[in-house]
Amino acid sequence: LRTRDIENTGNGPLYRRLQSALKAVIDDGVLQVDDALPSERDLANELGISRVTVRNAMRSLVDEGVLVQRHGAGTFVAPRVEQALSRLTSFTEDMITRGMDPGAIWLEKTVGHASPEEAMALNLSPGTEVTRLRRLRTANDKPMALEYAVIPRAFLPSPDEVDKSLYDALAKYNKKPERALQRLRAELFDGETAKILGVPDGSAALYIERRSFLANGTPVEFTRSYYRGDSYDFIAEMQVDA
Ligand code: GLP
Repeated sequence: LRTRDIENTGNGPLYRRLQSALKAVIDDGVLQVDDALPSERDLANELGISRVTVRNAMRSLVDEGVLVQRHGAGTFVAPRVEQALSRLTSFTEDMITRGMDPGAIWLEKTVGHASPEEAMALNLSPGTEVTRLRRLRTANDKPMALEYAVIPRAFLPSPDEVDKSLYDALAKYNKKPERALQRLRAELFDGETAKILGVPDGSAALYIERRSFLANGTPVEFTRSYYRGDSYDFIAEMQVDA
């Protein structure tokens, strides 16, 4: 990182420009997952700027989930989540397998009537009652995804049935999905969604739509999610046709 890299990133406050320059270095792969960042003092000396500026830039990147501070050890590039595309798992399971603590901030818990799009996705007649859950999903308190799940009310009478995991709640009624179709699409976070996830407006998002089904083929879930593009790698194993 050179002083001119920071000068080239626009004309906001200096710490914001340093923040974007550091983010670019990570996005370009120059600094990779678990790499240590130079100390505040070294970076400040090297760039000829104050330690306070460096501290503010690093703190903002920690808040964004791009960097992690490890007590006594320094600041590191935060790990990305690698997610297999071929296994049907829940967010809660995914985070627990990685040793992270899954959490949720509730944004909506309602019962309503299926919109035409939802009815089509869930194979219901329009207007059928559905349970809606909108949650910010977190891992170790870091915002990871915004999820909006719609479930036929016949399978989940009330959103209050869901404590932490939707799939655990469905399992109680013997309605845990056994198969799913998932669509992934690149998008940009709009202002409101970016704010909820604590990422800059216009940053990269993965839009994921999941329709999941019971063993007999009945649709049980229609979920639209926005995952952080800077934190997720989706992995699929492939084979040539036999
Ligand atoms: C993932 C899927 C969602 C699914 C959720 C269930 O996040 N993208 O479609 O609803 O897992 O997770 P949990 O059981 O933790 O609520």
